[in-house]
Amino acid sequence: MEKVVVLGSINVDTILNIKRLPVPGETMAMSDESNAGGGKGANQAIAAVRGGAKTTFIAKIGQDHAADFMLDTFKKDGLNMENITVDPKAGTGKAYILLDDNGQNSILIYGGANQTISVDDVKNAESSIAEADCLISEFETPIEATLEAFRIAKKNNVVTILNPAPAKTDIPEELFQLTDIIVPNETEAEAITGVKAVDKKSIINSADKLNKMGVKRVIITIGSRGSLYYTDGKDDFVNAYKVSAVDTTAAGDTFIGYLAAKLDSNLDNMVEAMKFASKASSIAVQVKGAQNSIPYVDDVKI
Ligand code: RIB
Ligand code: NA
Repeated sequence: MEKVVVLGSINVDTILNIKRLPVPGETMAMSDESNAGGGKGANQAIAAVRGGAKTTFIAKIGQDHAADFMLDTFKKDGLNMENITVDPKAGTGKAYILLDDNGQNSILIYGGANQTISVDDVKNAESSIAEADCLISEFETPIEATLEAFRIAKKNNVVTILNPAPAKTDIPEELFQLTDIIVPNETEAEAITGVKAVDKKSIINSADKLNKMGVKRVIITIGSRGSLYYTDGKDDFVNAYKVSAVDTTAAGDTFIGYLAAKLDSNLDNMVEAMKFASKASSIAVQVKGAQNSIPYVDDVKI
Protein backbone atom coordinates (compact mmCIF):
# COMPACT_ATOMS: atom_id res chain seq x y z
CA MET A 1 0.00 0.00 0.00
CA GLU A 2 1.32 3.39 -0.87
CA LYS A 3 -0.60 5.33 1.76
CA VAL A 4 -1.40 3.94 5.19
CA VAL A 5 -3.33 5.66 7.98
CA VAL A 6 -3.21 4.34 11.55
CA LEU A 7 -5.65 5.24 14.33
CA GLY A 8 -4.26 4.17 17.68
CA SER A 9 -2.34 4.59 20.87
CA ILE A 10 0.92 6.21 21.93
CA ASN A 11 2.70 4.98 25.07
CA VAL A 12 6.06 5.58 26.58
CA ASP A 13 7.17 2.11 27.63
CA THR A 14 9.17 1.53 30.81
CA ILE A 15 10.81 -1.86 30.61
CA LEU A 16 11.54 -3.50 33.95
CA ASN A 17 13.89 -6.48 33.61
CA ILE A 18 13.17 -9.11 36.23
CA LYS A 19 14.05 -12.78 36.72
CA ARG A 20 10.41 -13.79 37.14
CA LEU A 21 7.11 -12.18 38.12
CA PRO A 22 6.94 -11.22 41.81
CA VAL A 23 4.34 -12.97 43.99
CA PRO A 24 1.91 -10.90 46.17
CA GLY A 25 3.73 -9.38 49.16
CA GLU A 26 7.18 -9.95 47.68
CA THR A 27 9.84 -7.24 47.21
CA MET A 28 12.18 -8.11 44.41
CA ALA A 29 15.21 -6.53 42.73
CA MET A 30 15.18 -5.65 39.01
CA SER A 31 18.27 -6.21 36.88
CA ASP A 32 17.60 -3.23 34.59
CA GLU A 33 15.14 -0.42 33.83
CA SER A 34 14.88 1.44 30.52
CA ASN A 35 12.49 3.50 28.38
CA ALA A 36 11.39 3.08 24.78
CA GLY A 37 8.71 4.48 22.50
CA GLY A 38 5.68 2.20 22.39
CA GLY A 39 1.90 1.96 22.17
CA LYS A 40 0.32 -0.43 19.69
CA GLY A 41 -0.84 2.30 17.29
CA ALA A 42 2.48 4.13 17.30
CA ASN A 43 4.40 0.86 16.82
CA GLN A 44 2.17 -0.05 13.86
CA ALA A 45 2.57 3.40 12.31
CA ILE A 46 6.36 3.27 12.73
CA ALA A 47 6.45 -0.22 11.19
CA ALA A 48 4.36 0.94 8.20
CA VAL A 49 6.52 4.01 7.56
CA ARG A 50 9.79 2.04 7.98
CA GLY A 51 8.28 -0.58 5.68
CA GLY A 52 8.07 2.07 2.97
CA ALA A 53 4.47 3.41 3.11
CA LYS A 54 3.57 7.08 3.40
CA THR A 55 1.97 6.96 6.83
CA THR A 56 -0.43 9.25 8.68
CA PHE A 57 -1.07 8.70 12.38
CA ILE A 58 -4.31 9.69 14.13
CA ALA A 59 -3.57 9.81 17.86
CA LYS A 60 -3.63 11.87 21.03
CA ILE A 61 -0.92 12.94 23.45
CA GLY A 62 -0.72 14.92 26.66
CA GLN A 63 1.27 18.06 27.28
CA ASP A 64 4.33 16.57 28.93
CA HIS A 65 7.89 15.34 28.42
CA ALA A 66 6.60 11.94 27.33
CA ALA A 67 4.81 13.64 24.43
CA ASP A 68 7.97 15.51 23.35
CA PHE A 69 9.94 12.26 23.46
CA MET A 70 7.41 10.48 21.25
CA LEU A 71 6.92 13.29 18.73
CA ASP A 72 10.66 13.44 18.27
CA THR A 73 10.77 9.78 17.08
CA PHE A 74 7.77 10.29 14.80
CA LYS A 75 9.42 13.30 13.19
CA LYS A 76 12.68 11.44 12.57
CA ASP A 77 10.73 8.65 10.86
CA GLY A 78 8.77 11.06 8.69
CA LEU A 79 5.32 10.15 10.01
CA ASN A 80 2.57 12.56 9.01
CA MET A 81 1.59 14.07 12.39
CA GLU A 82 -1.16 16.44 11.21
CA ASN A 83 -3.82 14.37 13.04
CA ILE A 84 -2.02 13.97 16.35
CA THR A 85 -3.84 16.23 18.79
CA VAL A 86 -3.06 17.33 22.33
CA ASP A 87 -5.23 16.81 25.40
CA PRO A 88 -3.76 19.23 27.93
CA LYS A 89 -5.69 17.57 30.78
CA ALA A 90 -4.63 13.96 30.20
CA GLY A 91 -1.11 12.59 30.39
CA THR A 92 0.54 10.83 27.46
CA GLY A 93 -0.09 7.08 27.62
CA LYS A 94 2.34 4.85 29.47
CA ALA A 95 3.08 1.16 29.63
CA TYR A 96 5.07 -0.70 32.28
CA ILE A 97 6.51 -3.86 30.82
CA LEU A 98 7.72 -6.61 33.11
CA LEU A 99 10.22 -8.55 31.04
CA ASP A 100 11.53 -11.80 32.46
CA ASP A 101 14.71 -13.73 31.66
CA ASN A 102 12.88 -15.91 29.12
CA GLY A 103 11.79 -12.87 27.09
CA GLN A 104 8.17 -13.24 28.31
CA ASN A 105 6.35 -10.02 29.14
CA SER A 106 3.43 -8.80 31.26
CA ILE A 107 2.20 -5.26 30.57
CA LEU A 108 0.39 -2.64 32.70
CA ILE A 109 -1.18 0.23 30.78
CA TYR A 110 -2.05 3.79 31.75
CA GLY A 111 -4.33 4.92 28.90
CA GLY A 112 -4.22 8.69 29.53
CA ALA A 113 -4.72 10.76 26.37
CA ASN A 114 -5.26 7.59 24.29
CA GLN A 115 -8.60 7.20 26.07
CA THR A 116 -9.83 10.68 25.14
CA ILE A 117 -9.67 10.22 21.35
CA SER A 118 -13.22 11.01 20.30
CA VAL A 119 -15.53 10.46 17.34
CA ASP A 120 -15.06 14.18 16.58
CA ASP A 121 -11.27 13.74 16.45
CA VAL A 122 -11.83 11.02 13.86
CA LYS A 123 -14.28 13.18 11.90
CA ASN A 124 -11.63 15.91 11.82
CA ALA A 125 -9.27 13.39 10.21
CA GLU A 126 -11.84 12.33 7.58
CA SER A 127 -9.87 13.55 4.57
CA SER A 128 -6.70 11.76 5.71
CA ILE A 129 -8.65 8.51 5.97
CA ALA A 130 -10.46 9.01 2.68
CA GLU A 131 -7.27 9.52 0.70
CA ALA A 132 -5.40 6.53 2.17
CA ASP A 133 -5.18 3.04 0.63
CA CYS A 134 -5.62 1.38 3.97
CA LEU A 135 -6.57 2.07 7.58
CA ILE A 136 -5.26 0.16 10.61
CA SER A 137 -6.71 0.31 14.13
CA GLU A 138 -6.45 -1.56 17.45
CA PHE A 139 -8.10 -1.50 20.90
CA GLU A 140 -5.91 0.78 23.02
CA THR A 141 -8.12 3.72 22.00
CA PRO A 142 -11.95 3.97 22.33
CA ILE A 143 -13.85 1.56 20.09
CA GLU A 144 -16.41 4.25 19.08
CA ALA A 145 -13.56 6.18 17.45
CA THR A 146 -12.43 3.05 15.59
CA LEU A 147 -15.98 2.37 14.42
CA GLU A 148 -16.32 5.89 13.04
CA ALA A 149 -12.95 5.65 11.28
CA PHE A 150 -13.91 2.29 9.71
CA ARG A 151 -17.24 3.76 8.53
CA ILE A 152 -15.40 6.62 6.83
CA ALA A 153 -12.89 4.19 5.34
CA LYS A 154 -15.50 1.87 3.83
CA LYS A 155 -17.47 4.81 2.43
CA ASN A 156 -14.29 5.74 0.56
CA ASN A 157 -13.19 2.23 -0.51
CA VAL A 158 -10.24 2.23 1.85
CA VAL A 159 -9.05 -1.24 2.97
CA THR A 160 -9.54 -1.74 6.74
CA ILE A 161 -7.23 -3.80 8.95
CA LEU A 162 -8.32 -4.52 12.51
CA ASN A 163 -5.87 -5.68 15.17
CA PRO A 164 -8.26 -6.69 17.99
CA ALA A 165 -5.63 -6.13 20.72
CA PRO A 166 -5.53 -6.07 23.69
CA ALA A 167 -8.02 -8.94 23.73
CA LYS A 168 -11.65 -7.88 24.04
CA THR A 169 -14.87 -9.88 24.07
CA ASP A 170 -17.64 -7.31 23.52
CA ILE A 171 -16.89 -6.13 19.99
CA PRO A 172 -19.84 -4.57 18.14
CA GLU A 173 -20.99 -6.64 15.17
CA GLU A 174 -20.82 -3.62 12.89
CA LEU A 175 -17.06 -3.45 13.33
CA PHE A 176 -16.64 -6.97 11.90
CA GLN A 177 -18.77 -6.04 8.93
CA LEU A 178 -16.57 -2.99 8.28
CA THR A 179 -13.32 -4.99 8.57
CA ASP A 180 -11.56 -6.33 5.47
CA ILE A 181 -8.68 -8.04 7.26
CA ILE A 182 -8.61 -9.02 10.94
CA VAL A 183 -5.22 -9.81 12.52
CA PRO A 184 -5.49 -11.25 16.06
CA ASN A 185 -2.96 -13.45 17.83
CA GLU A 186 -4.24 -16.79 19.09
CA THR A 187 -5.33 -15.36 22.48
CA GLU A 188 -7.22 -12.46 20.91
CA ALA A 189 -8.88 -14.83 18.43
CA GLU A 190 -9.98 -17.04 21.32
CA ALA A 191 -11.46 -14.03 23.18
CA ILE A 192 -13.68 -13.37 20.17
CA THR A 193 -14.57 -16.87 18.97
CA GLY A 194 -14.32 -18.88 22.17
CA VAL A 195 -12.20 -21.46 20.32
CA LYS A 196 -9.03 -22.41 22.17
CA ALA A 197 -6.19 -22.48 19.65
CA VAL A 198 -4.21 -25.58 20.52
CA ASP A 199 -3.32 -26.99 17.12
CA LYS A 200 -3.62 -26.21 13.42
CA LYS A 201 -7.16 -27.58 13.26
CA SER A 202 -8.47 -25.40 16.10
CA ILE A 203 -6.73 -22.31 14.72
CA ILE A 204 -8.42 -22.88 11.37
CA ASN A 205 -11.71 -23.41 13.19
CA SER A 206 -11.25 -20.09 15.02
CA ALA A 207 -10.44 -18.34 11.73
CA ASP A 208 -13.52 -19.86 10.13
CA LYS A 209 -15.69 -18.44 12.94
CA LEU A 210 -14.23 -14.96 12.34
CA ASN A 211 -14.98 -15.44 8.66
CA LYS A 212 -18.60 -16.27 9.47
CA MET A 213 -18.81 -13.22 11.76
CA GLY A 214 -18.35 -11.11 8.66
CA VAL A 215 -14.61 -10.68 8.08
CA LYS A 216 -13.57 -12.09 4.72
CA ARG A 217 -9.82 -12.26 5.39
CA VAL A 218 -8.39 -13.57 8.63
CA ILE A 219 -4.74 -13.71 9.69
CA ILE A 220 -4.00 -15.34 13.05
CA THR A 221 -0.46 -14.82 14.32
CA ILE A 222 0.89 -17.65 16.46
CA GLY A 223 4.16 -16.24 17.83
CA SER A 224 7.25 -18.28 17.04
CA ARG A 225 5.11 -20.82 15.18
CA GLY A 226 4.16 -18.45 12.37
CA SER A 227 0.87 -17.14 11.00
CA LEU A 228 -2.21 -18.49 9.29
CA TYR A 229 -4.13 -16.81 6.47
CA TYR A 230 -7.71 -17.97 6.04
CA THR A 231 -10.26 -16.85 3.49
CA ASP A 232 -13.26 -18.58 1.89
CA GLY A 233 -12.45 -21.95 3.41
CA LYS A 234 -8.85 -21.89 2.16
CA ASP A 235 -5.83 -21.73 4.48
CA ASP A 236 -2.18 -20.80 3.95
CA PHE A 237 0.42 -21.19 6.67
CA VAL A 238 3.53 -18.99 6.84
CA ASN A 239 6.33 -20.29 9.07
CA ALA A 240 8.06 -17.88 11.44
CA TYR A 241 11.80 -17.29 11.04
CA LYS A 242 13.74 -19.14 13.72
CA VAL A 243 15.53 -16.61 15.93
CA SER A 244 16.27 -16.32 19.61
CA ALA A 245 13.92 -13.72 21.06
CA VAL A 246 15.00 -11.29 23.79
CA ASP A 247 11.82 -9.17 23.82
CA THR A 248 8.63 -9.97 21.92
CA THR A 249 7.02 -6.55 22.71
CA ALA A 250 5.73 -5.05 19.43
CA ALA A 251 6.28 -8.26 17.44
CA GLY A 252 2.62 -8.23 16.43
CA ASP A 253 2.63 -4.48 15.73
CA THR A 254 5.68 -4.83 13.49
CA PHE A 255 3.93 -7.66 11.63
CA ILE A 256 0.84 -5.53 11.02
CA GLY A 257 2.64 -2.34 9.94
CA TYR A 258 4.82 -4.30 7.51
CA LEU A 259 1.87 -6.32 6.24
CA ALA A 260 0.07 -3.08 5.30
CA ALA A 261 3.16 -1.55 3.73
CA LYS A 262 3.90 -4.64 1.61
CA LEU A 263 0.33 -5.51 0.59
CA ASP A 264 -0.93 -4.56 -2.89
CA SER A 265 -4.11 -2.51 -2.81
CA ASN A 266 -6.04 -5.34 -4.54
CA LEU A 267 -4.85 -7.69 -1.73
CA ASP A 268 -3.66 -10.38 -4.14
CA ASN A 269 -0.18 -10.84 -2.60
CA MET A 270 -1.28 -11.63 0.95
CA VAL A 271 1.09 -14.57 1.56
CA GLU A 272 4.10 -12.68 0.21
CA ALA A 273 3.24 -9.64 2.38
CA MET A 274 2.92 -11.98 5.39
CA LYS A 275 6.42 -13.33 4.71
CA PHE A 276 7.85 -9.81 4.78
CA ALA A 277 5.83 -9.05 7.92
CA SER A 278 7.09 -12.18 9.58
CA LYS A 279 10.70 -11.36 8.67
CA ALA A 280 10.38 -7.81 10.06
CA SER A 281 8.87 -9.13 13.26
CA SER A 282 11.64 -11.75 13.66
CA ILE A 283 14.17 -8.89 13.57
CA ALA A 284 12.21 -6.80 16.11
CA VAL A 285 12.11 -9.57 18.73
CA GLN A 286 15.91 -9.78 18.80
CA VAL A 287 16.23 -6.26 20.22
CA LYS A 288 14.88 -4.98 23.55
CA GLY A 289 12.19 -2.26 23.30
CA ALA A 290 9.33 -1.59 20.91
CA GLN A 291 9.92 1.19 18.36
CA ASN A 292 13.71 1.11 18.54
CA SER A 293 13.63 -2.56 17.49
CA ILE A 294 11.43 -2.13 14.39
CA PRO A 295 13.63 -2.62 11.28
CA TYR A 296 13.90 -0.45 8.17
CA VAL A 297 12.81 -1.79 4.80
CA ASP A 298 16.36 -2.31 3.45
CA ASP A 299 17.06 -4.81 6.24
CA VAL A 300 13.92 -6.84 5.60
CA LYS A 301 14.56 -9.34 2.78
CA ILE A 302 12.76 -12.63 2.21
O1 RIB B 1 2.00 -4.09 21.44
C1 RIB B 1 3.06 -3.65 22.23
C2 RIB B 1 2.71 -2.40 22.97
O2 RIB B 1 1.68 -2.68 23.87
C3 RIB B 1 3.83 -1.82 23.82
O3 RIB B 1 4.68 -0.95 23.12
C4 RIB B 1 3.09 -1.16 24.98
O4 RIB B 1 3.07 0.23 24.88
C5 RIB B 1 1.67 -1.74 24.90
O5 RIB B 1 0.78 -0.79 24.54
NA1 NA C 1 11.64 -5.75 20.49
